[in-house]
Amino acid sequence: MRKIFVLGSLNMDLVISAPCIPAAGETICGSGFMANPGGKGANQAAACAKLGGHVLLGGCVGNDDFGVALCENLTASGVNTEQVYTAEGHSTGVAVIVIAHGDNRIILDAGANDTVDIARADALLQQAGEGDILLTQLEIPIETVGYALKKAASLNMLTILNPAPAYKQVVDYLEYVDIIVPNETELALLTGKYDVDEGIHELIKQGIRTMIVTMGSKGLCCYTEGRITYMGKAAVDAVVDTTAAGDTFCGALAVGLAEDCTLIDTLRYANHAAALTVTKKGAQASIPTRKEVDVFMSRF
Ligand code: RIB
Repeated sequence: MRKIFVLGSLNMDLVISAPCIPAAGETICGSGFMANPGGKGANQAAACAKLGGHVLLGGCVGNDDFGVALCENLTASGVNTEQVYTAEGHSTGVAVIVIAHGDNRIILDAGANDTVDIARADALLQQAGEGDILLTQLEIPIETVGYALKKAASLNMLTILNPAPAYKQVVDYLEYVDIIVPNETELALLTGKYDVDEGIHELIKQGIRTMIVTMGSKGLCCYTEGRITYMGKAAVDAVVDTTAAGDTFCGALAVGLAEDCTLIDTLRYANHAAALTVTKKGAQASIPTRKEVDVFMSRF
């Protein structure tokens, strides 16, 4: 099986549920406070491992209790964290998340994630070879992401970019991306187009050959080899918390491709894995195992 290299962020998510989003100057009562492991890079690596992938994560945490807890949790999930470094003088990344009406709003303090530099990318990719996969996102410095994509492309790796949170500057590096996985908002920010088909055509003009636009409850839209395919969302009984659904999708995508499954089978699998994620609270805690996804899919 091809190895998966995830370069990205690790955050401790501080989560509280609220009946609504408070207005400016307003204080409201929430409930169900949780501190739980998150960060887009770490979530995607955890998804890869829980779904059966061979995954190494590169990133940075601070020299604090959150950093220790994040690494322990990832190791327990099966992620190789040898390339997660402790950045002295920085705090571990923190995400403050408010959940209201099943949706989330997130404020980030990147902390040590901002110290992930090209030396870290080099160290991670030292163990990579042709055919392996690089999966990355934008919660670490964009220059590091660009460098890693370029280096991975030069090693003939398959590169997957989840441009989240979206930064327009990432278009400078799209020539090194094999598969881009934005959500609708990110697609609009990258292309200036609010219609998904128009956004896809804009990215095609920029040389992207394969893209998968995740569309929440509407499912996904995939463009590859000149064709656009829509896939509806897998149905679940109740949406509890959407945090990490996109990350689970990206991790499952990487695992399917690492196992040489067809893109369409991989998308179906990733779609079901992401759907299961929204049925539980938390980020890494809500990511299903391979067995859970297999059981879920067997019902359809
Ligand atoms: O994608 C979800 C993640 O975004 C959360 O775990 C939070 O840490 C933020 O990075």
